[in-house]
Amino acid sequence: MGRKALCEIPPMGWNSWNTFTENISEDLIKQTVDAMKEQGLLEAGYEYVVIDDCWSLRERDSEGRLVADPEKFPNGMKALADYVHEKGFKFGMYSCCGTRTCAGYPGSFEHEFEDAAQFAEWGVDYLKYDNCYKPQNHDGKTLYRRMGIALANSGRDIVFSACQWGTDSVYDWIGSSGAHLFRSTGDINDSWNSIRDIAHSQLDKQAFSGAYCHNDMDMLVVGMYGKGGNSYISAGGCTDEEYQTHFSLWAMMNSPLMIGCDVRNLTDATKKILMNQDLIAINQDKECRAPFLCSENPESFVLVKFLSNGDIAVGMFNMGDTAAGVAVNFWDIGLNAGSGRGLEFYDCIEHQNLGIKKEIFSSTVAAHGSKIYRCKVVSVK
Ligand code: GLA
Repeated sequence: MGRKALCEIPPMGWNSWNTFTENISEDLIKQTVDAMKEQGLLEAGYEYVVIDDCWSLRERDSEGRLVADPEKFPNGMKALADYVHEKGFKFGMYSCCGTRTCAGYPGSFEHEFEDAAQFAEWGVDYLKYDNCYKPQNHDGKTLYRRMGIALANSGRDIVFSACQWGTDSVYDWIGSSGAHLFRSTGDINDSWNSIRDIAHSQLDKQAFSGAYCHNDMDMLVVGMYGKGGNSYISAGGCTDEEYQTHFSLWAMMNSPLMIGCDVRNLTDATKKILMNQDLIAINQDKECRAPFLCSENPESFVLVKFLSNGDIAVGMFNMGDTAAGVAVNFWDIGLNAGSGRGLEFYDCIEHQNLGIKKEIFSSTVAAHGSKIYRCKVVSVK
């Protein structure tokens, strides 16, 4: 019997990189798992706990195996995976398609099958696979295919998270590579400009994402408040309004939702954003329909996504520095006035019903702000 189909909808979880970079350890991962459980993050859907780069020794052992750094992980990866599983989470790790990882640790090039077997033996459920130190004359396409084959035949269900940065025309081939998600941009940092630029860069790429192979717009910076693991990531931090818009964008654009802040110290505002079940439901909708642009102005745009129960999600985004009126014309959604149908609007951030609207709906959206509505198609005759 082969493995089962994996990762139908965008994965949710936590990743160590944004806040901790190389400062990772068994203690940190255990504390993170405990905090996620206590605060209800697991129940909210965040199930993968992923250790990023810098977990291994600088060299393989004499038999060519990857070795967990015994100072950081004194009981090894199997024991840690067991702990993560006992608490009800899934366990993720990291490697790279080149000879070295981005931080200079051993990569999996020419070790794909041994490493996949090693990860399976440790109990890994998710592998993030980076794009550094690719040997000359090897393009991403074949290197990601290699690990795709190795993981699919490792004897364990392992989600394949290709961290491909949108290079090598990734959109053209990633769906066939075995990857369940693919990073489409360079690294995020904790700033409004980074969030805005990533979102803009993916607005015309939505059709490439779908069930079982999701466009990963990078880990969330929600709740980091400038406390990144290095000076590139820190970048000054964002306001809560900006973090909300970041989450609204990632939710509407079907990106995986991987928390990147320190979950041991969450503010109430951060919890409210990360645990918004109305937005999570839009992100996790089974059919993974790509959102489409309904109106685009220099500073604002409207994204619309059809949901599997017939509801329609409408996201209004103001990327500009002053408040703006944003409108959606129902004609552009595909709902003409002659149909005798309107939309009943539910505000997913304020959690309130706004009643039935006909033909057009407009709203004032704060600077760097967002509004997300879940709409029911209703008769207005
Ligand atoms: C790359 C990736 C990041 C992170 C680092 C680790 O930059 O894009 O997400 O994994 O490597 O070194």
